[in-house]
Amino acid sequence: MPMVGYLNGEYTADGLAQVPIDERGHQFGDGVYEVIRVYSGRLFLLDEHLQRLQRSLSAIGIENPHSLDEWREIVNEGVRRSMEPEAQVYLQVTRGVAVRAHLFPSTSPSVSMTVRPVRAPDVSPGALMCLPDERWANAYVKTINLLPNVIAKEAAHRANAIDALLVRNGMMREGSSTNMWFVRQGKIYTAPANRYILNGITRQFVLKLASQQGLTVCEQALSFNELSDIDEVFLTSTTQEIRPVERIFADETQMASLTHLPDDAPSSLLYRCDKPVELWNRTAPGPVTTLLQKAYSQAVENFRSYQEPLGTDNSLSVQDQNSKA
Ligand code: PDD
Repeated sequence: MPMVGYLNGEYTADGLAQVPIDERGHQFGDGVYEVIRVYSGRLFLLDEHLQRLQRSLSAIGIENPHSLDEWREIVNEGVRRSMEPEAQVYLQVTRGVAVRAHLFPSTSPSVSMTVRPVRAPDVSPGALMCLPDERWANAYVKTINLLPNVIAKEAAHRANAIDALLVRNGMMREGSSTNMWFVRQGKIYTAPANRYILNGITRQFVLKLASQQGLTVCEQALSFNELSDIDEVFLTSTTQEIRPVERIFADETQMASLTHLPDDAPSSLLYRCDKPVELWNRTAPGPVTTLLQKAYSQAVENFRSYQEPLGTDNSLSVQDQNSKA
């Protein structure tokens, strides 16, 4: 089946679900979301995603319309109906449907979901384009307001990069849809899970894998000026898993805005890269990246073949995963 949809209790076939025009997600971007990976028909780190969904909902004052068990049932049923062993679940909760007005309405939240087949991610090394992080100061909320993210991703893509490396006040925070990792003298650095990044579920899983591998991780943001000392760079996300980075560049005209956003309003936010400044490069994935990629693949393989005891749900927590590994 190419795609399963779900809208407020109804499962639908491809393209048949229609969202009302007064939906607040459509009009205000007033909602939050999750993206969950399905391996061999089973939802990877489902409970961790549902916990982060709760955190995002609480942050923006939407009451969670479902209990954890209800969520598990809704999402698992979508995956069952899709019959796709390798899939991606997109889950969205908005403040609901109401005549357009800024103040919160007293309507129930809307829940929508899609389940789509996916292929194994491309893990070939790619380039990153440094761009100023122009998002709001609450990047920890997984809001559907992704305009700055999609513009940054598109600008990076047009400059032949796989993602934008978002830099706020000189500090490298994360990608437009990924978390960023840097290796320096055997130690791994990733920005702390404060308000300026989305605390990726893959990030949290990789932190555990790194500690199992005896690697030291510093949850500390680095300045882009420190790139010359960096040995390895990689990115993580639910859909991209662990992907090595081979090059980081910025446009000469953007260099100043990486440390300080100018007051002047740009005529276009789709920043071009006409004069690339090379900030970092490496030809092959480094040993730490390779080690973590192998550990991640092994964890996914364990998850695929894990036989849960009768009577339990089919999600596997990081803890279960660790105790298996
Ligand atoms: N993106 N940072 C940002 C800004 C993201 O949008 C994402 C995820 C991540 C990684 O989070 P996780 O490991 O939980 O996937 C970090 C998803 C996949 C997306 O928007 O499609």
